[in-house]
Amino acid sequence: MTEPTAKKVIFSAVKPTGIPTLGSYAGALKNWVAMQDEYDCIYCVADLHSITVAMVPADLRKNTLDMLAMYLALGIDPEKCTLFVQSHVSAHAELAWVLNCYTQFGEAKRMTQFKEKSKKAPDNVNVGLFDYPVLMAADILLYGAECVPVGQDQKQHVELARNIAQRFNNRYSPTFVLPEPFMPKYGAKICGLQNPDKKMSKSDDNPHDCVYLTDDADTIMRKFKAAVTDSDASIKYDRANKPGISNLLTIYSVFAKVSVEQAEKEFAGCGYAQFKKRVGEAVCEFLRPVQAECRRILADKSYLQSVMKTGAEKAAYLARKTLSKVYRKVGFVQI
Ligand code: AMP
Ligand code: TRP
Repeated sequence: MTEPTAKKVIFSAVKPTGIPTLGSYAGALKNWVAMQDEYDCIYCVADLHSITVAMVPADLRKNTLDMLAMYLALGIDPEKCTLFVQSHVSAHAELAWVLNCYTQFGEAKRMTQFKEKSKKAPDNVNVGLFDYPVLMAADILLYGAECVPVGQDQKQHVELARNIAQRFNNRYSPTFVLPEPFMPKYGAKICGLQNPDKKMSKSDDNPHDCVYLTDDADTIMRKFKAAVTDSDASIKYDRANKPGISNLLTIYSVFAKVSVEQAEKEFAGCGYAQFKKRVGEAVCEFLRPVQAECRRILADKSYLQSVMKTGAEKAAYLARKTLSKVYRKVGFVQI
């Protein structure tokens, strides 16, 4: 439960722009599950963030519920955590507005993700896309999160949140907890199966690069069979010289729940074709019960509604306390 406790607060979110991938699990969701017993965890489906790219409304509605069901199926327990949908808690948008005024145009312009996304969709470089990291800062700072489990691509955004928090605290008085990104040693950047130098992304143009958490076993096996390797025939972790093999070893380690070193030993002397098959099988084995659970949860609409309602109430209570404090400090008149 998230009654006031002395436990360290953790916050993270994923935006429902598509189906989560092996990368979303390895970089973020795996840690979310692992942390919930020890910490006060607050997780959300970041639907406000998702409209920074063009979204069909029916897809957004479906993705939001699918994402929530996937969190639950992976083992996020709404009894232990606060689990909610971002647009259900209006304080996120409200704090983002205030934080906008404590964020420099220049620092937001330096964000790598903004530069990349602007290049990818030059006809939709909207102000929301530019403001995306400030909304993310609001998400994190509302709950006093010390630690934010994310993949490598989000590290810069969490660092910006920390800078904004520090600036606000210096200008007024200590208000926000300074957050830090938390990334796994292996798995913070899972790469594409066809392009092992590039991050695996749920919005990828090449569907063979990317394995979705909802892919069926045949599709998964086919994608791994076609994964790019190299001509060296040794199964060793060497990110610089053997990116394809290192990526596959990392995926195996995450989904078979062994260390990368153990995986290297297990596959010593094994051929590439056999290795790729074993990695695919480990992923299928992990996902089979998760997908079945996800389908079961999705069919239970009233359960999903009750999770969203309880989560929104718990989150709104906590968020409102921070927002009131901020409004007071900046000088808004209270009624
Ligand atoms: P996304 O799926 O892009 O919305 O990201 C959701 C979370 O998963 C974020 O914390 C990302 O940093 C993380 N993530 C996404 N893709 C990958 C990847 N290929 N490798 C590691 N982490 C990732
Ligand atoms: N930007 C994150 C992503 O692309 C999602 C996100 C939104 C987030 N708000 C957050 C992650 C706050 C961590 C903390 O996946």
